[in-house]
Amino acid sequence: EESKKIVLVEDSSLPAAKQIRIKEAVDCRNTRVKVFGWVSRHRVQGKDMMFVVLRDGTGHLQCVLNDRLCHTYDAVTLTLESAVALYGVIKEVPAGKTAPDGHELIVDYWYVVGKAPGGDDAITNRVNEESDPSLRLDQRHLVIRGDRASAILKVRARVMRAFRDHFDVCGYHEVTPPCMVQTQVEGGSTLFEFDYYKEKAYLTQSSQLYLETCLPSMGAVYTLSESYRAETSHTRRHLSEYTHCEAEIPFISFNDLLDTIEGMVKGVVKRLWDEPATRAMIKQLNPTFEPYTEPFVRMRYEEAIAWLNEHGKKRAEDGKDFEFGDDIPEAPEREMTDAIGKPILLTHFPGPIKAFYMPATKDDPRVTESVDLLMPNVGEVVGGSMRIWDHDTLLAAFKREGLNTDHYYWYLDQRKYGTCPHGGFGLGVERFLAWITDSFSVRDCCLYPRFVGRCKP
Ligand code: 4AD
Repeated sequence: EESKKIVLVEDSSLPAAKQIRIKEAVDCRNTRVKVFGWVSRHRVQGKDMMFVVLRDGTGHLQCVLNDRLCHTYDAVTLTLESAVALYGVIKEVPAGKTAPDGHELIVDYWYVVGKAPGGDDAITNRVNEESDPSLRLDQRHLVIRGDRASAILKVRARVMRAFRDHFDVCGYHEVTPPCMVQTQVEGGSTLFEFDYYKEKAYLTQSSQLYLETCLPSMGAVYTLSESYRAETSHTRRHLSEYTHCEAEIPFISFNDLLDTIEGMVKGVVKRLWDEPATRAMIKQLNPTFEPYTEPFVRMRYEEAIAWLNEHGKKRAEDGKDFEFGDDIPEAPEREMTDAIGKPILLTHFPGPIKAFYMPATKDDPRVTESVDLLMPNVGEVVGGSMRIWDHDTLLAAFKREGLNTDHYYWYLDQRKYGTCPHGGFGLGVERFLAWITDSFSVRDCCLYPRFVGRCKP
């Protein structure tokens, strides 16, 4: 009751407060500022003091409210996640005390902008660290306010920029191919089909075919676009919608392609690591992360089959040894990658287990010029290959797959008007992030994950 009578007024004799974001606070010490943000933590100390940790997306700021400032009704009923405005002077914390960036805001005036509920409806009752995963997914719009979730999303923003910077410096052009298509790239079983003005259409599985058409127009190209896969299995590395970083390069050999993939992964990681703020975020999320500078292991599919058999791994369906021609499932592939403990460029997969556009190698026509990049703790992060560039060979591949070439006339034209050897690859941004941030699942590495049975929020 007493607190309801206290009304705070800004002292007009003080210098005007400059509005800042928290990351600018270091440069604004000892001047009067106002800061808007959300109450991330708060703690009352004795009768006359309250600490608030304010969050605004650019950082955290410890704020101190003394005397009357913490006696008001709003102060006494302050709740987590309320939006507030705090005015005051930023002072270095006394020696021996710690606070984010080593300083705190000594508040002289404040008010609530948007109050969050307390009691039963308090945010910590809606969702918290102990909530079960499906509830956390329902409440993902609140979960993303958390320290870990927001840090991953910020690293994601840096990762996307690092890819763009890398490709820019290497002379690629960025393109944005359509998401609504009438062709398949990676097999019919994972197509999302929909009605496009009474015609059958799909959500794109990969922008690769379109990137290939850009080569004579723009030279090497890349895209950061969404790809869609109607995956039916629940795994920690499959999404129905994911961000796909794809590139395509003309006039290269298969070896050049492998070097390009390795160079991109190392180059992007170096960019991230060389930015102090990004490095700090990565270290916070994944304390033991170190950029990998050694050459990646290069291993043929056939050697991987031998490795699995030498290490007693068996096929799930019949408990027998793996044979040439088998698709290596996720679990043994991961066990092998973790055991080797280094990035592996796994190459030369048999044609029948790979996509229609992959060319056979000259020295061994049983296998294709194809590659997967496998990372410890995550597994496959990149898939790529050279592309069949001879018109008739491609036509035969379409026939073999039973694909109607009418829908691919433009892709075949590519082989008709000045064809050339070329290759490219696709990297799953969420898997790359899971590797960098040591996240258990790709679901934690995108804003609002989509997978079987989940299309909200
Ligand atoms: O190996 P994939 O299927 O290759 C392609 O789509 C090629 N057309 C790419 C190209 O050459 N331009 O997919 C490439 C990468 C995988 O290595 C993986 O990182 C990611 O895309 N990926 C997925 N990520 C999350 N959820 C899924 N369901 C994914 N499927 C593939």
